[in-house]
Amino acid sequence: MADEPIVVGIDIGTTKVCTLVARVEGANNLRILGVGIEPSQGIRKGNIVDLQAASQAIGRSIEKAERTSGMEITSALISLAGSHVSSVNSRGVVGISGRAIDQEDVFRALDAAQAVAIPHNREIIHVIQRGFVVDGQDGIRLPVGMHGYRLEVEAHIITAGAATVENLRQSVQASGVQASHFVLNPLASAEVVLSDTERQMGAVVCDIGGGTTDMAIYIDGDIWHTMVLGIGGNHITSDIAHGLRLSISQAEEVKKQYGHALQEEIDERDSFSTRIFGEENPVEIRRKDLSMIIEARVEEIFDLVLQEIKRSGYDGLLPAGVVLTGGASQLPGLRTLASQVLGLPVRVAKPENLLGLADQLYSPAYSTSVGLLYWAMMMSEAAPAAGGGRRSHRKGGNPTLDTIKNWLKRLLP
Ligand SMILES: Nc1ncnc2c1ncn2[C@@H]1O[C@H](COP(=O)(O)OP(=O)(O)OP(=O)(O)O)[C@@H](O)[C@H]1O
Ligand SMILES: [Mg+2]
Repeated sequence: MADEPIVVGIDIGTTKVCTLVARVEGANNLRILGVGIEPSQGIRKGNIVDLQAASQAIGRSIEKAERTSGMEITSALISLAGSHVSSVNSRGVVGISGRAIDQEDVFRALDAAQAVAIPHNREIIHVIQRGFVVDGQDGIRLPVGMHGYRLEVEAHIITAGAATVENLRQSVQASGVQASHFVLNPLASAEVVLSDTERQMGAVVCDIGGGTTDMAIYIDGDIWHTMVLGIGGNHITSDIAHGLRLSISQAEEVKKQYGHALQEEIDERDSFSTRIFGEENPVEIRRKDLSMIIEARVEEIFDLVLQEIKRSGYDGLLPAGVVLTGGASQLPGLRTLASQVLGLPVRVAKPENLLGLADQLYSPAYSTSVGLLYWAMMMSEAAPAAGGGRRSHRKGGNPTLDTIKNWLKRLLP
């Protein structure tokens, strides 16, 4: 089935770059054809700090994915995170003069919503419609076809530092790849880990990576709020390195092998041996001491997450709780601690149900990477949407006109 669309995503993370090539098969399946996972370089907290090193790491990842898939990559969706990302809610208003509202009016309203004062050093990444008001009547999900005089859209606008975006663009361009669109990390992850029920009820996606914790709040099926915190699993590692006098790579090893986020779960007598700086022989380290260090940092991360949720003003609207993902969410005990600190139900999720070369990808570390493919799939399907044939990759997702519009809106600008 050669004409089934090929989708490509490049997840540029703080610890790894992951390029994936997949074919969209049947109704909504992704067959992974190419995988290129490489350690990151020159990227800190979602920002490029060394363009050459970053371009090289990205280049190696692209090359690997090209080799495994046997395909040349010319354009791809790119993940975006970092402290340079911010979001505002805005309202766009247009006049209709009593006739039926059409899609063009919706686009005009979204355009008007983008007319908020956005500094020239910022680039708009997503314009997400959250609901419509027609002649003062709010809570309208799909205004097309309705009659009215005044159409208002409530939009969530995500902007990023223009220079950072340009650096990312250049770093993939160096390998001959065009960045077709950027997708904010948590919005990519959400496509993988959030169920339709959760996004209807109200839930937070929280992707804890190496250098960033990326969050998105979904309510009534839509994205209502997004946040990026400059803290992640690497901070846990460096605490361990400082606290136990280990090198960063040793600390990383120890964290993955013996780490636990809840001291109280660890037996006093439980220990392991490792080499530390300035000591000839390996020394015994109590796992309780290790987990004490980890617990303090993880608690701090979730304190910040809680603060952000409260600051958003939606803290009372999240009965489905928090869905954790990202490499650091694999730490034992983290889910329980998160639930204690946040006072919400918490689960950990990862990609599932892929075809092809997917074994490596069934880890929370690849939710963003796989999520980019779902976005690419939605985008490749969006173009011929008028002719029908749209589909949802989510379970039970029959394509209603509403979902089609939902997808369309995410393509903007
Ligand atoms: N088994 C594990 N237990 C605990 N932590 C882990 C485990 N595996 C990976 N991690 C941690 O996950 C983090 C990397 O996660 P991930 O791959 O999601 O980050 P990234 O996408 O490269 O970074 P970011 O999204 O922050 O830019 C590292 O801090 C790593 O130590
Ligand atoms: Mg990531």
